[in-house]
Amino acid sequence: MRVGSMTHQKGLFISFEGVDGSGKSTQARMLYDHLRSIGYPVTLTREPGDWSEGRKLRDILLNGDLKHGKTELFLFLADRCENLSQVIIPSLSRGEVVLCDRYTDSTLAYQCFGRGFNLEEVESLFCWSGFPVPDITLLLSISQEESLSRMKGRGTSDRLESDLSLMSKVSLGFRSLSDRYPDRICILDGEGNPDKVFSRVLEAVERIFW
Ligand code: TMP
Repeated sequence: MRVGSMTHQKGLFISFEGVDGSGKSTQARMLYDHLRSIGYPVTLTREPGDWSEGRKLRDILLNGDLKHGKTELFLFLADRCENLSQVIIPSLSRGEVVLCDRYTDSTLAYQCFGRGFNLEEVESLFCWSGFPVPDITLLLSISQEESLSRMKGRGTSDRLESDLSLMSKVSLGFRSLSDRYPDRICILDGEGNPDKVFSRVLEAVERIFW
């Protein structure tokens, strides 16, 4: 595993990425259930907000009235620092498989491609913060029409989801990240029913690791 300054990890680190409505949370949960059922020690987490006091930070990030252009970026990074310290690193150190629903590629897609921050500068913040690089990233790809229709189906949208021009930049951003990191990012067709998509997820995971 490639790591930053947070060392001594033995487990397997898999991140799930995609635009809102891509089905990544459903797929991460299905992989979690599957791996548990066959006896793997596995932890499922998500960003932002999945640590002891993370709900407050998630609420500010998704619904807060943020004025300074860099607050959002720094809060996502701060959230990740806590999720790493409280959840991800301890689980990896115990040798578990960690499934993380959104991670650094979301910051690159939303805050860099979406909001316009410089990608190299933000990556140097990742490095400075000692964020480990996932062993593999499963990027679920769906069309923008499908993403919009799934979000409409959910009824509500948060501060980021309701910004349509941001969403289209994010979608292109994820594509560009998969070209930039072809060895790490595995792009999967996210269209179709959840079982069908899960067969693609499982095939990719088995091909890569087992
Ligand atoms: P979720 O609804 O998939 O949990 O994601 C929450 C929102 O936060 C989603 O619109 C993507 C956004 N986000 C960022 O903008 N940057 C990040 O680094 C992360 C982790 C999420």
